[in-house]
Amino acid sequence: MNFLVTGGAGFIGSAVCRHLCANPAYRVTNLDKLTYAGNLASLRPIENAHNYRFEQADICDERAVLDILRRDDIDIVMNLAAESHVDRSIDGPGTFIETNIVGTYRLLNTTLEYWRGLPEDRKTRFRLHHISTDEVFGDLPFDGGMFVEETPYAPSSPYSASKAASDHLVRAWHETYGLPVVLSNCSNNYGPYHFPEKLIPLVILNALDEKPLPVYGAGANVRDWLFVEDHARALELVATKGQVGESYNVGGNSERTNLSVVETICDLLDLRRPRAGGKRYRDLISFVTDRPGHDRRYAIDASKISRDLGWSPKENFDSGLARTVDWFLDNKWWWGPIREQRYAGERLGQSPVEDSPAEDRKGAA
Ligand code: NAD
Ligand code: TYD
Repeated sequence: MNFLVTGGAGFIGSAVCRHLCANPAYRVTNLDKLTYAGNLASLRPIENAHNYRFEQADICDERAVLDILRRDDIDIVMNLAAESHVDRSIDGPGTFIETNIVGTYRLLNTTLEYWRGLPEDRKTRFRLHHISTDEVFGDLPFDGGMFVEETPYAPSSPYSASKAASDHLVRAWHETYGLPVVLSNCSNNYGPYHFPEKLIPLVILNALDEKPLPVYGAGANVRDWLFVEDHARALELVATKGQVGESYNVGGNSERTNLSVVETICDLLDLRRPRAGGKRYRDLISFVTDRPGHDRRYAIDASKISRDLGWSPKENFDSGLARTVDWFLDNKWWWGPIREQRYAGERLGQSPVEDSPAEDRKGAA
């Protein structure tokens, strides 16, 4: 089975590549543009594996992607390439439209051309798996409800609107052209190799630097946290065993307010890396201006993937968060260079490939 993982140098994509490569019956090609969020250091555990290869390319580049699909005889495309950070989408939506909507459209075009040229047996087994988010469903009241696969789409941010658009395009390519697709919508991931602009890694590293821990608004917003390695197992199942045309919700069954997440990280660090002078990490918490259009609550009902594909998360939030904090404590080699860049006054994301239009530079971190 030959996989093409797009966005495989990102947080979830790299976990998927590491997970798939552990199976010697799989071959994995990682196609990534290497934006600010792409980091080949996250692939270090598999960079010399016999069944792994990396290609730097943009999903918008139809010629390059078609060549890779043909050269590597791809059976399954897993599309994780995206702009993924809500705050950046508020400051500069342009790259979100470009990659998440136009990029998905171009990938669909390329994949359809490739799929149409396959012999019948390989055509039947081919899948395009599009990875999406629960944020396409909008938000839930604090006092109840969960997202199911049939929940109507009602995205709030430029990020979630761009992901919703891409999901619709993927379904349209299935209904209209017969392309065999599966989709999954997951909740907030966390774990090793998480880029430190998202809440959990940002708070861990700011705390270690004795910097303020920014909590938006009153910290009452709720997210349903999913350990990234549990998600990678779910994605393998959806890609290889999911029903064509179906979507699967993936969640960690771990709803927490943002404030309680931040406080739990502080308490874990108090035990593992006590501050000088008996001070507590909680003293660094700083309530800051809320995010515009901030979704109140997300919660996933994952009973379909559990019932149909036999998936359930192995980590609960306490065990997963402790593993994550320990990983960051032990792996400064990975996050040190990213943080140095930030404090050298450079925009997060000064990568060798500069891709953002001017519009997206203003207001970036
Ligand atoms: P990420 O930002 O960490 O990584 C995205 C990767 O895509 C990077 O390696 C980047 O270089 C690459 N990329 C960006 N534009 C590209 C392009 N045009 N062509 C090729 N590669 C490109 O994102 P993530 O957190 O790993 O998320 C992966 C997917 O999962 C995204 O589609 C995201 O919407 C979805 N998702 C993420 C979460 C989460 O909690 N992180 C939750 C739900 C859904
Ligand atoms: P984030 O990790 O950006 O993921 P998403 O916006 O996709 O849910 O944010 C998670 C939650 O944490 C969200 O409700 C916003 C909040 N948040 C903070 O309170 N402070 C921060 O510094 C960040 C980055 C996020």
